[in-house]
Amino acid sequence: MPSSSARLQNLPPYVFAVIGQQLRDMKAQGIDVIRLDIGSPDLPPPDFVVDALAESARNPSNHGYTGYTGLPAFREAVARYYKRRFNVDLNPDTEILPLIGSKEGIVNLSLAILDKGDISLVPAIGYPSYEMGARIAGADICHVEMSSQNGFLLNVDSLPKEVREKAKLLWVSYPNNPTGTVANLDFYAEMVAFCAENDILLASDNPYMQITFGDYKAPSILEIAGAKDVAVEFMSLSKTYNMAGWRIGAAVGSAVALKHLLAVKSNMDSGHFRAVYEAGVAALDNTPEEWIKERNQVYVTRRDKIMAALPEMGLSADLPLATLYIWAKVQDMDATEYATRCRAEAHVSIAPGEAYGPSGDGYVRMSLGVANDRLDEALNRMKTWYKSIKS
Ligand SMILES: Cc1ncc(COP(=O)(O)O)c(C=O)c1O
Repeated sequence: MPSSSARLQNLPPYVFAVIGQQLRDMKAQGIDVIRLDIGSPDLPPPDFVVDALAESARNPSNHGYTGYTGLPAFREAVARYYKRRFNVDLNPDTEILPLIGSKEGIVNLSLAILDKGDISLVPAIGYPSYEMGARIAGADICHVEMSSQNGFLLNVDSLPKEVREKAKLLWVSYPNNPTGTVANLDFYAEMVAFCAENDILLASDNPYMQITFGDYKAPSILEIAGAKDVAVEFMSLSKTYNMAGWRIGAAVGSAVALKHLLAVKSNMDSGHFRAVYEAGVAALDNTPEEWIKERNQVYVTRRDKIMAALPEMGLSADLPLATLYIWAKVQDMDATEYATRCRAEAHVSIAPGEAYGPSGDGYVRMSLGVANDRLDEALNRMKTWYKSIKS
């Protein structure tokens, strides 16, 4: 067997794949581990979305290839959604490209834009695929400052001239995984101006646009005038409609960037199953606001349970207005040791902050995507465990 490519050797093991293997080993030993480490919604999509999938799947003529740019009806539904929700006009033929989950598009965008010697500007705390895409493309990575002092908003001001000149891509993602931070339109306007000035493609990853709490409403970067000239946004049905396993999302915005992304994708995949597109249309067009609000209220209840328990677990956090996560600072222990021991000794799996980049150290991430009774059990286990190691 030949050795793997150099490109693969440049890729660290995906942290969650490693944790997953440890968890399978624990399960094989009969240990019941509660997982607060993954951001997969535990609740189902609306019934009518499942019905639309089943009905379409029963049609014998719906099982062939659907084409590289997906079903026009799906692209049109995404356009209607952006108009309704953000008052943003998108051309369904040139400014919307369906994805097999937004993760696929995120990694493939790096392949479409970056070469060896180019720089990808990656948040110092963020979803790992921004960095992994650049590594697979063989490009260099520059981490952009993102710290609690600036409210976990990216700070591009201090990037040196040589970095700006070599940079071809900047990633932003708000509401933010893992920190829960939200951004406003002033911040987005700054990022658009920075990218326009430095000839950089701005990639806004926005899968939590509808996982918001109270009166908070997350904006789209495409609301900024001129954004479509420099930006693409990734949207996903995974969290919005509890459809993470369905693998459906879209890249929207700059027609030029989407053409490059399509050039990669048309050599890699052949579109999605028609029934998934049709169910996606049903979700985008017909999900009542009330359904979203009620689902988000479930997350609020869980968020508040975790927030109340933090002091007894040696953790502290700011109250998030959005996303599926609590980003908690570990008070008096190394954060990775905290996560490792919590998994091994309390049998609760939480994500170590260092998995999200160099500035994630000192934190752990806890997910709201777990049923209330399991969450109660997890918090009890963690409180008892923390008390035991401190006594
Ligand atoms: C910030 C962020 N971006 C992208 C994704 C990928 O979502 P999907 O591929 O399910 O659309 C996730 C999933 O957790 C995420 O947290």
